[in-house]
Amino acid sequence: MTENTSLTPVVLTDPLLIAIRDYWNEHIHDLEVATEPIGSLGFFDQLDEYRFDKLRYLPKIVKFDGYKEKKLLEIGCGVGIDLVRFAQGGTKVTGVDLAEVSISLAQENFSQRGLEADLRVMNGEDLDFDDGSFDVVYAHGVLQYTSNADKMISEIVRVLRPHGNAIMMVYNRNSWLNVMSKVMKVGLEHEDAPVLNKYSASEFKRMLSPFDQFNLIPERFPVETKLHQGIKAAMYNKGFVKLFNLLPRSLVRPLGWHLMAFASKS
Ligand SMILES: C[S@@+](CC[C@H](N)C(=O)[O-])C[C@H]1O[C@@H](n2cnc3c(N)ncnc32)[C@H](O)[C@@H]1O
Repeated sequence: MTENTSLTPVVLTDPLLIAIRDYWNEHIHDLEVATEPIGSLGFFDQLDEYRFDKLRYLPKIVKFDGYKEKKLLEIGCGVGIDLVRFAQGGTKVTGVDLAEVSISLAQENFSQRGLEADLRVMNGEDLDFDDGSFDVVYAHGVLQYTSNADKMISEIVRVLRPHGNAIMMVYNRNSWLNVMSKVMKVGLEHEDAPVLNKYSASEFKRMLSPFDQFNLIPERFPVETKLHQGIKAAMYNKGFVKLFNLLPRSLVRPLGWHLMAFASKS
């Protein structure tokens, strides 16, 4: 009999979920920006620096230090970059991901920082937690990559305690980045994943109907990137990014690439 540990792969029958798990076991999010050895503290620091440089909006609207002593579940936690920030803020954190490689690296990330977390391989569409187990559920960039996002949302609602809060992000189909990638014929990251859905704001609002209340904020506007080189970098960083950011944010807000949802259950 095999011992059931936090790294035991989930038993899956849905071929699409199996393909999603296999893909994410081979594609660590943002891996291409890291030069330090995989699993070293320097590696996790590089991923953190890159992520929070690209997503400058995130710590402005998600209070990573605002959930002291609260129980927070992150679904699709990857290598635990955001979860570490919650833990550093005194939150009691649990992280799950379908991919064993993610959870194994997240465990390494936490252990190297001397932080505590309950990290387990699990399917976010079928959570192994009792009803009302968490004060907060966080899923940033996950619903759009899973097989059945509605199922994941109903699991989020189920494991939230009454008056609990959920923070979720999906990609906005009607956004500057989606239009630019089509016009410039530049692929989006993880476009080769078995599932990559983009939603309009109204579609996402319909998906959020199991919550009693929610607020949708489009975010993630162009910022300078180190990913491009030479003339491409100059045109993007000094041209497009500068020009776009001259436009009044109130005007371009609906075009944000990330639809951030702050939802609650009564
Ligand atoms: C784009 S990565 C995002 C990782 C992390 N949330 C971040 O923002 O850096 C998507 C993650 O969702 C996970 N994922 C996709 N479907 C899932 C599911 N059904 N249950 C749990 N995790 C899932 C993948 O394994 C992957 O780690």
